[in-house]
Amino acid sequence: MNVIACTDCRGPLRFEPGERALTCTACGAVWPLRGGLPCMYREAEIRGIDRFMRVIYDGAPRFHDPAVRLLVPLFELEGSERRLREAYMPRLSLDTLADERSAVPDGDGGPPPVRILEVSVGTGANLPYLKSGLAQAGLGPRPVEIWGLDVSLGMMTQCLARPEHRDVRLVLGDAHRLPFRDATFDRVFHVGGINAFRDRAAALAEMARVARPDTPIVVVDEQLDPARRHSLYHRLTFKAATFYDRDPRAPVDALPPGAYDVLVEQASRFFYTLRYRVGQRPA
Ligand SMILES: C[S@@+](CC[C@H](N)C(=O)[O-])C[C@H]1O[C@@H](n2cnc3c(N)ncnc32)[C@H](O)[C@@H]1O
Repeated sequence: MNVIACTDCRGPLRFEPGERALTCTACGAVWPLRGGLPCMYREAEIRGIDRFMRVIYDGAPRFHDPAVRLLVPLFELEGSERRLREAYMPRLSLDTLADERSAVPDGDGGPPPVRILEVSVGTGANLPYLKSGLAQAGLGPRPVEIWGLDVSLGMMTQCLARPEHRDVRLVLGDAHRLPFRDATFDRVFHVGGINAFRDRAAALAEMARVARPDTPIVVVDEQLDPARRHSLYHRLTFKAATFYDRDPRAPVDALPPGAYDVLVEQASRFFYTLRYRVGQRPA
């Protein structure tokens, strides 16, 4: 089964060995390889705040993970990066995967793979937590495919450089226009980028489109815990961490029509977890 599809028309893609691009067999669009990865967005579409953030992530990808490890406890004065990631990963409900039947048969007669997508995978810092959850999910002989999409070649290159991520399928793409077929993934999640996206509603709708109907979609980013009191230090460090965003909060008002089972909770003082599902879309 082709998981990646043409970003423009969602048609199937052809890749001939020796070619340096994927070509859509339906509309003829050509998607080049960059750094060995399919690049499924057009440069002109990455504009405004998205272009600015990409400059930041492309500029210092090696410092991203150490900075997160250091700054989460320094700014929040409690917790740790690990504790934060361990707080939101359970919302993916990986433990119920074994009982769910993938709607996407693979066509080769074997058990359909479990497919998980992280939108904005970055350097892959969530992947060890994801893999540990999958290992405990009792999936038996079902193969697992982990997919990661990101707009930053710098971040993806860091991800690729880690031997433990070699099995992850990486695609360069824009969260606003995902290059995947409808209802492809058994879980979709996103951490740390959406507050800066130029159109959060488009990104949330795209995650729902590529997710299998009714499966949990999990989104995490900054929000100052509304149920707690915050010192001046916390307010200032939160402001510094979210300088690009006038009102950093869970984008509940931008969820696609029909979103249900919506849950917003704090993963830590500075980060929300938003979980939602969307059912079968009308044909
Ligand atoms: C704070 S990092 C988080 C990386 C990773 N998810 C994590 O938890 O460590 C945000 C990521 O969002 C990516 N990003 C920003 N804008 C994007 C867009 N329009 N489409 C896809 N990814 C984007 C950045 O390149 C960066 O890798």
